[in-house]
Amino acid sequence: MTKAIVIYNSRGGNTKQVAEKIAEGLGVEAINQKSIPKDIEDYDLLVLGTWPMMFRVTSTGKRWLKKLSKKNIDGKAVALFFTSGGPDENMPKSEDNPKKIKEMVFETMENIINKNGNITVLEERFYCKGAIRMMGKIVDNEGYPSKEDLQNARIFGENLKKKFS
Ligand SMILES: Cc1cc2nc3c(=O)[nH]c(=O)nc-3n(C[C@H](O)[C@H](O)[C@H](O)COP(=O)(O)O)c2cc1C
Repeated sequence: MTKAIVIYNSRGGNTKQVAEKIAEGLGVEAINQKSIPKDIEDYDLLVLGTWPMMFRVTSTGKRWLKKLSKKNIDGKAVALFFTSGGPDENMPKSEDNPKKIKEMVFETMENIINKNGNITVLEERFYCKGAIRMMGKIVDNEGYPSKEDLQNARIFGENLKKKFS
C-alpha cells in the first residue's frame, strides 16, 4: 500500500482548501508545511502545494520545499499543485519570456524539490484560480476556488489514489 501525504503552505486559505480536497480524494491527511512529519521518509507519494506572489513562488514556499528536498526523499513520487490569481496569465515581459504563471510556478517547485534529481516528479499536476486577499479582504476572484475547482481537486486526489494503489 502506498503511503501518501499532502503538504502545503497557504496564507489566505485557497491552497489549504485545495490541499484538503486532494487529501480527501486520496484518503489521507493534508498537513501545513510547518508540521511536516518526522517520518517523512516512510511516505511513498508526496503531494506538494503552494502559491505565488508578484509572479514568484513566495519565499515561504521556496524555503519549505528546499528544506524538504534535503530530507531523505530519494525515489519518492511527487505531485505538484498550486492556486493563484491568474494561473493562465502570461508572465510580465512575455515577449522575452513566453511562459505563463503556471509554467513558472511548476518549474520553480520542480527545480527546488528535485534539485538532486533523486525523485520522480509526476506529470499529474493541479492548479486553479484563488481569491486574492489584501489585509484579509477579498479584492479579486471572489468565489475561487470554485465548487468545480474543489470537485476537480478531489478527483485529482482520487486519480492519484487509483494510480498508486
Ligand atoms: C500581494 C499578492 C500578490 C500576488 N501576486 C500574484 C501574481 O503575481 N500572480 C498570480 O497569479 N497571483 C498572485 N496573487 C494571488 C495569489 O497567488 C492567490 O490569491 C493564491 O490563491 C493565494 O493562496 P492562499 O489563499 O493559499 O494564500 C497575489 C496575491 C497577493 C496577496
